[in-house]
Amino acid sequence: MFEQLNPTKMDPILGLMAAYRADARVEKIDLGVGVYMNDQGLTPVMRAVKKAESRLMELEHTKSYQGIAGDPQYNARMLDLLLGPHHPALKANRVRSIQAPGGSGALRVGAELILRARPNAKIWVGVPTWPNHIPLLGGAGLTIEEYPYYDIATREVNSEAMMQTLRQVPAGDIVLLHGCCHNPTGADLTKAAWDEITCIALERGFIPYIDIAYQGLGKSLDDDVYGLRSMAEALPELIIASSCSKNFGLYRERTGSISFVSATPAQADIVASQAMAVARQIYSMPPAHGALLVSMILGDPHLEQMWKTELDEVRTRIIAMRKMLTDSIQDNAAGLDFMHIQKQRGMFSFLGISSSQLQRLREEFGIYIVSSTRINLAGINSGNIDYLATSLRTVLA
Ligand SMILES: Cc1ncc(COP(=O)(O)O)c(C=O)c1O
Repeated sequence: MFEQLNPTKMDPILGLMAAYRADARVEKIDLGVGVYMNDQGLTPVMRAVKKAESRLMELEHTKSYQGIAGDPQYNARMLDLLLGPHHPALKANRVRSIQAPGGSGALRVGAELILRARPNAKIWVGVPTWPNHIPLLGGAGLTIEEYPYYDIATREVNSEAMMQTLRQVPAGDIVLLHGCCHNPTGADLTKAAWDEITCIALERGFIPYIDIAYQGLGKSLDDDVYGLRSMAEALPELIIASSCSKNFGLYRERTGSISFVSATPAQADIVASQAMAVARQIYSMPPAHGALLVSMILGDPHLEQMWKTELDEVRTRIIAMRKMLTDSIQDNAAGLDFMHIQKQRGMFSFLGISSSQLQRLREEFGIYIVSSTRINLAGINSGNIDYLATSLRTVLA
């Protein structure tokens, strides 16, 4: 049987990471990988997570199975974090959430749930989007359609073209939206754009599916969820896939959740039971460790404050790196305009240089960037910015 299989193509980001690791130059820089790094180039365990871990070591008295929905306290606290504890949809008892293995697991459970409810539904994704959206959603069996999102020429969201396409989306289809810190472009929807999409969704009858993997890394914990909070209030149905990989630094613990806003509490119960049936079919139960930590942090004012303080540091550092990079390579006289990087939010932006310039950066200077020119701003630090800026100026000259 196995002789029938051909090797799969290596994920370009994994290929880039392997090439970076094999590069012997000490001055090399990795701007490809999608994890947060501090000024020392490290991805540390967050302080509140460390504290919660040592507390959990003392308190945990069993490793017995959890339920299919994971930890109920985690689910409730994640909903409070996403929607705010006083959200009308929570008060109306229209929301259900189950723990999922990371944002990726959540996205897949959401896709399978959609297929159970509406086998012929199509899902509309922006161009470009996070490349893993395609296998996670399309691999479940959903047909993928596209709407224009980012305009490479203006380096902004192409709101007009986006809204025009969304006005054609048939009732019952699903529209995938990035909650904040758009990956890969860093170009987010304005509040006005969110409001407009909400109106179009109501008019057309499509269901938004919001992927929120960076709450707190853009503007603030509350600002970053403007879109999902307003949609959850205004629309009868909404799906939200969330991840704690970035904002709690829990990448390998696979901590996420999938939430469904339904028209009525009775429908919400049915959706939750179907979501659990989906989870049962795929992985049975989510991993416990990360969710127990998140639940402990969000349930303890001291730990929560500690986490928020560190998350503020993370966000402030990324914003500072955006400014530092722009300041060091912006050259109006030479026609080099990188101001979009300063304006955008989250870990990523497109650098917007040519493929030959990208290749020179890699070959001559050991600076690794994926072919879309997406850079991870958190890969920049006080120790490598000068080298990065000089190298960039050389290839752009
Ligand atoms: C846009 C987006 N969605 C979802 C995820 C899911 O992350 P994870 O499965 O690691 O929680 C990521 C991670 O990079 C992402 O960038």
